[in-house]
Amino acid sequence: MADRLIIFDTTLRDGEQSPGASMRREEKIRIARQLERMKVDVIEAGFAASSNGDFDAIQAIALQIKDSVICSLARANERDIARAAEALKPAGQFRIHTFIATSALHMEKKLRMTPQQVHEQARLAVRFARRFTNDIEFSSEDGSRSDIDFLCRILEVVIAEGATTINIPDTVGYSVPDGYAALIRKIRERVPNSDKAMFSVHCHNDLGMAVANSLAAVKLGGARQIECTVNGLGERAGNTSLEEVVMAVKTRRDYFGLEMSIDTTQIVPTSKLVSQTTGFVVQPNKAVVGANAFAHASGIHQDGVLKARDTYEIMRAEDVGWSANKIVLGKLSGRSAFKQRLQELSVALDSEAEINNAFERFKELADRKAEIFDEDILSILSQEEHGVLDHETYRFISLSQHSETGKRPPAKVVFAIDGSETVGEAHGNGPVDATLHAIESRVNSGAELILYSVNAITTGTQAQGEVTVRLSKAGRIVNGVGTDLDIVAASAKAYIAALNKLRSNVERLNPQCS
Ligand code: KIV
Ligand code: ZN
Repeated sequence: MADRLIIFDTTLRDGEQSPGASMRREEKIRIARQLERMKVDVIEAGFAASSNGDFDAIQAIALQIKDSVICSLARANERDIARAAEALKPAGQFRIHTFIATSALHMEKKLRMTPQQVHEQARLAVRFARRFTNDIEFSSEDGSRSDIDFLCRILEVVIAEGATTINIPDTVGYSVPDGYAALIRKIRERVPNSDKAMFSVHCHNDLGMAVANSLAAVKLGGARQIECTVNGLGERAGNTSLEEVVMAVKTRRDYFGLEMSIDTTQIVPTSKLVSQTTGFVVQPNKAVVGANAFAHASGIHQDGVLKARDTYEIMRAEDVGWSANKIVLGKLSGRSAFKQRLQELSVALDSEAEINNAFERFKELADRKAEIFDEDILSILSQEEHGVLDHETYRFISLSQHSETGKRPPAKVVFAIDGSETVGEAHGNGPVDATLHAIESRVNSGAELILYSVNAITTGTQAQGEVTVRLSKAGRIVNGVGTDLDIVAASAKAYIAALNKLRSNVERLNPQCS
């Protein structure tokens, strides 16, 4: 049997640590379902000790996902580990992932602990985790900048205590491929009981080398697990991109000689779901999942591809789940066709009332737009979760706005604040500026707009516009996403969604900053 590569997805944990990417319970469940559908081996569902919200989401995912191993991160202490074990209890198969920093810099400056204390705490943490499961991962944070002799001593002891996966993170994205691969290889050679554990890599992309480092560590260092995120989502420059490592290993099977369980046709739907949910837009030239990844613009290339596909194509678009914007439903589609499509998209709505609501919104959209694509259906659902919900503080109702060349445009936004209808009016430099000022004239949020972007979710001028707004206030950063056929209305919805998130006041710990 060929060697297997384990794909460990940490979109819901490390991905979510990126500012503004925080997700709600329902959004996380939907992404976890899609990850299961894509057949990832391990889903790191969160950091249970960080907040009650994280705990609940992990527990719900543990209850619902059956085919992937569900994992929670825990710092190397009893409280975090017990909390992770509690959240994971309903899962068929679960893993506790405990970590502590091992570089001299982190131990001295962040942990204020001696190497001996760190060594002992790691040992005790793994021993404690063994009370709950045999599937334990240990990570040496900032491993790539740690002293190799110390690293080997600590890894030997955690393996002896029962750690079954050893992860050596390149936490700050400092490594280069051959150096990182050599580190993993040397550790495996030097640690006497290294054969009792699977070696894993976890790379950050600060120097744009996360994918290259991960693949080098697999090919040359003998690692057999890659930790990655969908679209490379993650703090700063992000994490290793799942889609890139998976397609590299699959396309270059001749070189890597490894099997994976991933259903690659689910890659693009997963990428779209994560981007729509988090508001982190995928750049058009992003490998595999970017809108241009398979677009042959130059005449020469097009001619070549038409004559023989493999002249310029090393992967087939359909193998990663690109479909030619299939029209799936229309104005005449009934409730049962809509419900069936939700099932095919693995969207499980909890109640008939939720299906009815979503169906109503689908009908409203179908009245305005002749052809409805999967992306439209997903956007209807994520709109619900992004702030059109009745229990949110702010709810968009309607917009009227007028633009004329050479004039400062006015906008009037009708929206509800805690259920009471209010009207905001303002002028602005352009229609979007006027609309956001109109909302602010009533809300006075004090938030700073740090990002505004607009994207078409399908092709053609009939497409819905998807707007992402990122707001910052008192050190908190949130993203709001809004979609509408009218991009100014989409902007108002996105702004309102972001304001709702700011109000939701979720207090959560970053595992690596505490
Ligand atoms: O980057 C890192 O070191 C991590 C660990 C907590 C695994 O995310
Ligand atoms: Zn990380």
